[in-house]
Amino acid sequence: FGSERKNSSSINIDIESQWQPFHQAVHAFDKVKWKASPILNGKPTPILAAERVCVTAPYDREEVVGELTYATSSQVDTAMASAHDAYANWSQCSASERANYLLLLADKLELHQAELVALCHREAGKTIHDAIDEIREAVDFCRYYAEQAQTNFNKPKRITSFDGVDQEMTYQGRGVFVCISPWNFPLAIFLGQVCAALVAGNTVVAKPAEQTSLIACRAIELLLLTGIPQGVIQLVTGLGREIGHQLTSDERVAGVAFTGSTPTAQLINRTLMARDSAPVPFIAETGGQNAMIVDSTALPEQVVRDVLRSAFASAGQRCSALRVLFIQQDIAERVITLIKGAMAELKVGDPQLHATDVGPVIDLAAKQKLLTHIESLKNRARLICQTPLPESCASGDFVPPTAIEIQHIDLLEQEHFGPILHIVRFKASEIDQVVNQINQTGFGLTMGIHSRNERTYSEIASRAKVGNCYINRDQVGAVVGVQPFGGRGLSGTGPKAGGPHYLYRFMQSTIAQINV
Ligand code: NAD
Ligand code: ALA
Repeated sequence: FGSERKNSSSINIDIESQWQPFHQAVHAFDKVKWKASPILNGKPTPILAAERVCVTAPYDREEVVGELTYATSSQVDTAMASAHDAYANWSQCSASERANYLLLLADKLELHQAELVALCHREAGKTIHDAIDEIREAVDFCRYYAEQAQTNFNKPKRITSFDGVDQEMTYQGRGVFVCISPWNFPLAIFLGQVCAALVAGNTVVAKPAEQTSLIACRAIELLLLTGIPQGVIQLVTGLGREIGHQLTSDERVAGVAFTGSTPTAQLINRTLMARDSAPVPFIAETGGQNAMIVDSTALPEQVVRDVLRSAFASAGQRCSALRVLFIQQDIAERVITLIKGAMAELKVGDPQLHATDVGPVIDLAAKQKLLTHIESLKNRARLICQTPLPESCASGDFVPPTAIEIQHIDLLEQEHFGPILHIVRFKASEIDQVVNQINQTGFGLTMGIHSRNERTYSEIASRAKVGNCYINRDQVGAVVGVQPFGGRGLSGTGPKAGGPHYLYRFMQSTIAQINV
């Protein structure tokens, strides 16, 4: 998008001289115990013994990572009232001033990279690769949205009408934005929403996922260290089912930015619609039933590399991850054999090890849900491969990477958010039906296509009702400012995060004549 800005480059852990000192810096946080509680007007609230929740590591439930407390209903109310009061002053700050806080935050995130990587391991079970990418993406969101705000919102836009009257279009924030985020990108998505809302001129009540409150709390501490006015950002920790309704039904809410599952988005949508106050924007980025279509012209080795990354990186816990692989009959056996071989080589286990490919899933509930799904398919599907779990996984929440052949995508009624790859074979004559079946799920997040036939991939891409379509590559890891990310249909409302239209949705505009 024609910018001078560079994305964060971080370190290359495959270069020994970079990896060793970084690894040591991360290990320095091995025994640290973090704390999280609501942060109201810049101050963390005390954790009372009776309300303490112990946080343990997903890869070893014996390892204590920290403790936290959830916001009470009256603290949620305080957060909302304070954010509401802070809006008047914040809305008077220029876009450049607001952007400056984001730039300062980006620097702080880089400075505290080792601690944040340690937190991503220990609270969210992220591998070293994923944890580093997580910090980089958070930094990129800060710098990208700062640049967007400086470029587009620092001064009014002049518009000349047909009768020669000049007009000016100005953009303002809307008021209090509630930002609700998931655990799978506990820093990047959490801060992406918060920073976008703030730089657009809103004040924020942020509600992170309960599973990753420690990371969110540390991020807000760093944000406050930039000197940002304390009232503009309020953090409420807590269970979505307990405080979610209070947050989204509050009449002071001027907009909601949500990333999470489709059913939760539907619930919030109903709550917002039931309010008597003015309608507000609801930005929802939700789940997917992401497919990849592979035709007989594709290069099998490349397909296998991209399938493995798309399905099993981050333990399949990316909204973009591949769930259903459609392979043309003619090359199916060969590709499946290669997939089996590659899955046997996957290293599952301790996410802190450089060699680990697949870490744990987020918690016991997720693990049980995924294992139940695999079990439920046993009589209706063919198990192709399951990477065995080493003994070291016994004390954590691990799910073996699994590939399973099914007859039809219809067998999957919902998203299965973990390392499970479903495979469906199709005949050359059925390719149109395959695209229809994928579209008919109603989800529309990512799609992968592997084909060396330009006509085939162009036609599939033009018919696919998805937000992000990837050709002859993997289908995860969208890059801020380069591949704006977001879905359609059941997968989200748009506008795409990390793209040039995102901030506009957090704002309102006024147009006025200036030379009457
Ligand atoms: P989730 O829907 O369970 O929770 C998301 C957030 O919503 C959490 O903070 C949770 O506490 C909160 N919440 C839960 N119930 C609520 C309620 N009634 N009212 C208000 N808030 C409530 O999702 P999750 O398990 O945390 O995250 C995984 C899901 O997120 C997957 O479906 C994944 O596909 C999706 N996701 C989508 C994107 C995207 O960009 N499209 C990115 C990441 C994750
Ligand atoms: N933006 C993330 C990806 O592309 C979800 O994998």
